[in-house]
Amino acid sequence: MIVTVTMNPAIDKTVEIDRLLPGGLNRIRKVEYDAGGKGINVSKTIRELGGESIATGFLGGNAGKTIEAVLTEKGIQHDFIWVEGETRTNTKVFEESGAVTELNEPGPQISESQMEQLIEKLMGYAKEGTLFILSGSIPSGVDRHIYARIIRLLHEKGAEVLLDADGELFRNALSEEPDIIKPNRVELEEYAGYDYRASKEELLNLARDLKEKGIKTIAVSMGKSGAMFVHGGYEAICPSLSVKAHSTVGAGDAMVAALAYAWNEKLTDDETIRLCMATSAGAVTTIGTKPPTRELVDELMQQVIIEKIGE
Ligand SMILES: Nc1ncnc2c1ncn2[C@@H]1O[C@H](COP(=O)(O)OP(=O)(O)OP(=O)(O)O)[C@@H](O)[C@H]1O
Ligand SMILES: [Mg+2]
Repeated sequence: MIVTVTMNPAIDKTVEIDRLLPGGLNRIRKVEYDAGGKGINVSKTIRELGGESIATGFLGGNAGKTIEAVLTEKGIQHDFIWVEGETRTNTKVFEESGAVTELNEPGPQISESQMEQLIEKLMGYAKEGTLFILSGSIPSGVDRHIYARIIRLLHEKGAEVLLDADGELFRNALSEEPDIIKPNRVELEEYAGYDYRASKEELLNLARDLKEKGIKTIAVSMGKSGAMFVHGGYEAICPSLSVKAHSTVGAGDAMVAALAYAWNEKLTDDETIRLCMATSAGAVTTIGTKPPTRELVDELMQQVIIEKIGE
């Protein structure tokens, strides 16, 4: 079983106008809404791959109800904690010129007792054979060690954890040895304190260091430069697939979804990597964070080249 945790979900609102006129009346040509937040995006992609997950976290207000309705409609199980206030709506205004203006709401405040309720809910699902996905930012005011604490409690119950976070959240959580991580190259460089673009060799060495710290699977995504994987003695690097790029936002979430699906299906290392590369490349071809179809993923899997390191 897979459980995705989104502490800071959002409705992604996309607006198209000819030209943004600050201080004036702007007529919108086209508007689209989608349920978002990293964990929710992961749940949507798992569904498209043919798997199942339970989406949880915090929701509030009408935006929260909309997100819940979208999940139900897509056949994704959900079990959120309801809080006062309104789940964020993040608006992206696209102008004809290509300029994009973003307006992000702050989202509801989460109290300590609401966080305890969420943790209690997670513990209800935690057992051997369950993978929890902790991804994305946390609401403001929440302790920056929250992921570390949740990982410790989940491990005590025999569950496993896939962590996809950056900065302080990522660093703090590593001490609890999440089972799977998927940093992108910038996140890893920042973690290592590099103020320059690391070479592939340096990234591989950082992944090896993380393995020594007790993390079982490390997938380092490098955008258009592909990805590398370290799992026990297995080390491989894959060039990215050649696809027509629409939006690279959410490519990392797609890879997280593929890692989780593969874990649940007990796929081999090679099969896991094929699925990761194809799902993330597929996500790049779609608009916004929309997941690729399973059909496209199957097609792209044929293109994946796996270069084993040391062979
Ligand atoms: N332009 C591209 N063409 C083909 N594949 C791509 C491209 N950009 C990204 N990918 C695929 O997606 C994977 C993840 O991308 P990236 O490293 O940008 O993740 P990320 O920064 O975590 O993204 P996000 O957090 O926005 O979801 C890459 O390892 C690669 O397989
Ligand atoms: Mg990412």
